[in-house]
Order: sequence, then C-alpha cells, then structure tokens
Amino acid sequence: MSVFPNDFLWGGAIAANQAEGAWNEDGKGPSIADVVRGGIASGKHDAVIDPNLYYASHEAVDFYHHYKEDVALFAEMGFKCFRTSIAWSRIFPRGDETTPNEAGLAFYDNLFDELLKHGIEPVITLSHYETPLALYQEYGGWKNRQLIEFFSRYCETVFRRYNGKVKYWMTFNELNNMNRMPFATGAVDANASAQEIWQANHHQFVANALANKLCHEIIPDALIGCMLSLSTVYPATCNPEDIFSTMQLRRRSLFFSDVMMLGQYPAYAPRLFRELDVELEMADGDLQLLGDYPSDYLGFSYYRSVLHQAGGQFRIDTGGTAGLDNPYLDKTEWGWPIDPQGFRIVCNELADRYRKPLFIVENGYGGVDEADANGEFNDQPRIDYGRRHIQAMAEAIDDGCDIMGYTWWGPIDIVSAGTGEMKKRYGFIYVDKDNDGKGTLKRSKKRSFAWYQQVIASNGEVL
Ligand code: BG6
Repeated sequence: MSVFPNDFLWGGAIAANQAEGAWNEDGKGPSIADVVRGGIASGKHDAVIDPNLYYASHEAVDFYHHYKEDVALFAEMGFKCFRTSIAWSRIFPRGDETTPNEAGLAFYDNLFDELLKHGIEPVITLSHYETPLALYQEYGGWKNRQLIEFFSRYCETVFRRYNGKVKYWMTFNELNNMNRMPFATGAVDANASAQEIWQANHHQFVANALANKLCHEIIPDALIGCMLSLSTVYPATCNPEDIFSTMQLRRRSLFFSDVMMLGQYPAYAPRLFRELDVELEMADGDLQLLGDYPSDYLGFSYYRSVLHQAGGQFRIDTGGTAGLDNPYLDKTEWGWPIDPQGFRIVCNELADRYRKPLFIVENGYGGVDEADANGEFNDQPRIDYGRRHIQAMAEAIDDGCDIMGYTWWGPIDIVSAGTGEMKKRYGFIYVDKDNDGKGTLKRSKKRSFAWYQQVIASNGEVL
C-alpha cells in the first residue's frame, strides 16, 4: 500500500518570469527579471532594456500564449496541482499604483479556470524573483518600508479576485536567498550592506505576516505558506569546529523559517546582528504581527547537499549552498551533487523543528537533452533522479513527516534562474528553443513524461 496520502498533491512548478514571456503585453510592466541577461540569480542587470540585446525572460517559452496546450499535457500526466507565480507587474505594472491592470488579472483567471477544468489545483507564489522594476529603481526595493504597503495591496487584490479558485498560496520564493542573491529575492543591490539586507528581510517578514492575515480573512479555507531553499549542508569532519560552523551556516537559512513558521526572531538573532553590526528599525506592532500570523506550512526546494568546513569558502546559488565536494555523491551535468538521503534528512529535520505540514515545491534534475536518431528524448538520468528522491520522500513520510505534496521543478523546459539558459532543462516536456532564443517553441514529450505519469497514477508506488 502507498505511504502517500490519497489527497497527496503531485504536480509541477514553474515561475512566471521563467516561462510566460509576453514581458510587455497587455499592460504588464517590466520586472527585475526583465533587465537581466545572465540569470536573475547573478544580480547583474542592465540599467535600461536595450532592444538590440537578448533577454531570456522576454519570450521565455511563451507560456502566456501556450498555457492551454501546456496545461493539457500536465493533465495528461495526472497532475493534482500546479505551482506557478503571479507576475506582480502584470497586476500592478509599476507596483505602486492603487488600481490594478484588468488584463493581467484576466490572464490568471483564464489560467486558473483552465487548471480547474482539468481538476488541477493552482498553487500560487506571490513573488518569485520578479518584483516590479519601478520598485527597485525608484524605491530601492525591499529595504524601503513602503514596499510592505504595495505588496499588501497586491495580495489583497489577488486574494479577492481569485477567492474560490486558489486555495494554496506562498509568499516569497526562497526568501533565505537574500543572504547571497538579494537582487533576485528582494530587489536590493547585490553589493548592499548587511544592514540594508537585514532591514529588507525584516520588511519582508512583516509583509509575509500581513499576507497571511489578509489571506485568512479573505479566503477562510486557504493555506498560505512561506518558501525557502533548504538543500542541506553537512560538516566535512567530526571536528566540533566544523560541526558548530555547519550549524551556524544552516541557521543562515533556518533563520527565515524560524521567524515565519514560529512567529518570532530566534534567540540567536541578537548576537548575529551584533556581529554583523546590524540594527533593525522596527515599527510598533511588527513583532506582534509576526507572532499573530505565522505561516500555515513550509514550502521548500531541495536539489542537493554540500560539505562545509569551518573557515571554508562557500557560496549560495539557486541550488542552495555550495562548498566542498562530497566523495560519496555523484553529480548532475551542472555539478550539483545528487543526494536523495539528504532529502530524507531535511524532511525529518524540518518536521521535527516546526511540527507543521511541509510542501516540497521544488525538486528536479537540470540536464542537457538532445533528441536521439529517432527524434526521441531519452532522459534516463532525470528519471533516476526523480525515482531516488521520491523513494526518499516516501521514507520520510514513513518516518512520520507530514508532507502535503511534491511539485517537480520545471515539468516543462523553462529558462534557468541561475544562468539564464535554455540548455539547462528540467522538463518532462521538451521545448524547442535554444540559448540564443531560436526555435519553434514546439512541445515534445520526453521519456520521463510517461514515467511521471505512472508515478502519479500509482500514488508513488510504481517508480
Ligand atoms: C530555485 C528557484 O532556486 O531553483 C527557481 O526557485 C530555479 O527559480 C531553480 O529555476 C533551479 O535553478 P536553476 O538555476 O537551475 O534554474
């Protein structure tokens, strides 16, 4: 018998800026993703859009015009849910308006209707690396407290509009990436000071709590979660210095879920802020709001694990932390270690720490896919990665973890957030488009399509 509950939410996940394209259609304003040419995660962006240059998000895979065809393919795979983001700048093109853009709202009405027609629950991220550009250029991004008001207006607008259509919400994608990717995550410059970054974090924590409050008031049966990148980190040795340093590094991520899931700043915050020379400005009532409106569930991405040594170098990218090589693990073509047991460990760690439901909203395999002589895409490494991670998730459920669902990252090929490439593909569905933007946009099933279909049909029993 399957360990997965009968109502387990199997599906896939994308983000508006990596898939939709139509960057300036129907009144949409530019977002921070639209001035980036080499992957939003890099933080490198142009001051203005140069019409002679290629920006991957401007067309992406044109989900905006292909969504019916794509949703039909998701339905054929048996999806129970589909995670995407609303592009904030479709609804409020600059971000600071008081009246929303009706054409943008109508697009998501149509998309959600199409999903619901096929019995697929929309799972919606409110902000996935796509803050309206004007909020960065004219307000300085989330370090400016005014963004709380703009974000709350946007949330209230979409909660009212999609009440009855969307039950599962998430606030900010991978908020813990503010540590190393502040431009993507908070529309704050890549070279911002610790003070500016933590101030922006505080504003986002308050905005998160207010979104939770509004969501529950407007859609009483909705669940709203936070979302973090929680690929894990191991100590390189049993030297207590390495163990302690690894715990500290882990806390750099768990800080964010500690605040949003537990509703308060952790006990280790004052020392961290003292050492970083950070003094947060807070308004009366901020801490009360955090305490009163915690997240209902923890959504997270898991791609890999990494080794860490005290004093060692590490960096953070879209896959999480990267440090030393783990000799026990194989890697993907992009050098990301493959660690299903790490996935089980993380699920247990988070279930123990928060005792609230978990939602795996990103896990997947980015690789190069090329058609064979018969024109078929035999993506066995993707199937192997999925099988091993779903097995690990089943073990975690058997361990007692409360997991609501699993959405494979990029069930259809989309633009990579890390590098801006099309070549790094996650999909069960191939999209004919290359790194230079050339291709017909034709959709084709890869071998993994039938594999995932059978996983869902058997509720995770046939892998
Ligand atoms: C996550 C992001 O960090 O990783 C996604 O939420 C991203 O937006 C995904 O696409 C995979 O990263 P990449 O760099 O391979 O696209």
